[in-house]
Amino acid sequence: MIAAARAAGRSLARDFGEVENLQVSKKGPADFVSNADHRAEEIIYNSLTKARPGYGFVMEERGIVEGTDKSNKFIVDPLDGTLNFLHGQPHYAVSIALEREGKLLTGVVYDVAKNEIFWAETGRGAWLENRKLRVAARTKLHEAVVATGTPWHGKAEEKHTHFAREMLAMTPACAGIRRYGSAALDLAYVAAGRFDGFWERGLQPWDIAAGIVLVREAGGTITEIDGGDVMQTGSLLAANEDLHPLIEKQLRHAAAFARKAD
Ligand code: IPD
Ligand code: CA
Ligand code: CA
Ligand code: CA
Repeated sequence: MIAAARAAGRSLARDFGEVENLQVSKKGPADFVSNADHRAEEIIYNSLTKARPGYGFVMEERGIVEGTDKSNKFIVDPLDGTLNFLHGQPHYAVSIALEREGKLLTGVVYDVAKNEIFWAETGRGAWLENRKLRVAARTKLHEAVVATGTPWHGKAEEKHTHFAREMLAMTPACAGIRRYGSAALDLAYVAAGRFDGFWERGLQPWDIAAGIVLVREAGGTITEIDGGDVMQTGSLLAANEDLHPLIEKQLRHAAAFARKAD
């Protein structure tokens, strides 16, 4: 998986220098794809099929490829942070996870521009190259840096209003809010202790699968914000065990503002 991520990263790095020559199309509101995404995905698919014939795939661009081996499935985002990439911003990643018997087993998130490989395997810890990762030890929310993402592009205004309320509840409560534009890296940064927490709603399995393994193996807590199944809704909150309930409380305040407003 690391070799596949590196190979895709080499292709992305070449295309990053040639952004103006890429063919870009729009899949939906604020949802773009280019031939860089497709090329990287092809490389990952070919490399992993060769290494593990028969495994299934869930890929952002190509979709589902059923494998003959029903127990193993790769979940692939060839380029997480497409918008950054297309705007020449060097913050984007390759994300590959392996799900075995319906459970996330392994995750690799490769930050191409910074050449950082974050990887984790259930029971073996989370690593940045050969450095073992641990979520931040901070316990005070007012000292914490918390990342988020702006969800619901093209969705009803009330969804945006809800996100605005969450920002209103979170911003004064913590030391800083960050929105860097790659959910896979946001989770990797929580695992590495660079972010104290991260929440975002409506993500896709390929955005979060590898990052979830990273955060869990780095000792973090991940839950679905409203109590559902993270891989179904893609709405998640990740932090260390002390900050998690504090951030959750602020997000609940946002829900309470909403009830008062109704
Ligand atoms: C996006 C990034 C972004 C998140 C979006 C995702 P993409 O993935 O992870 O941080 O806010 O919701 O769609 O489209 O660049 O692979
Ligand atoms: Ca996308
Ligand atoms: Ca993504
Ligand atoms: Ca993508």
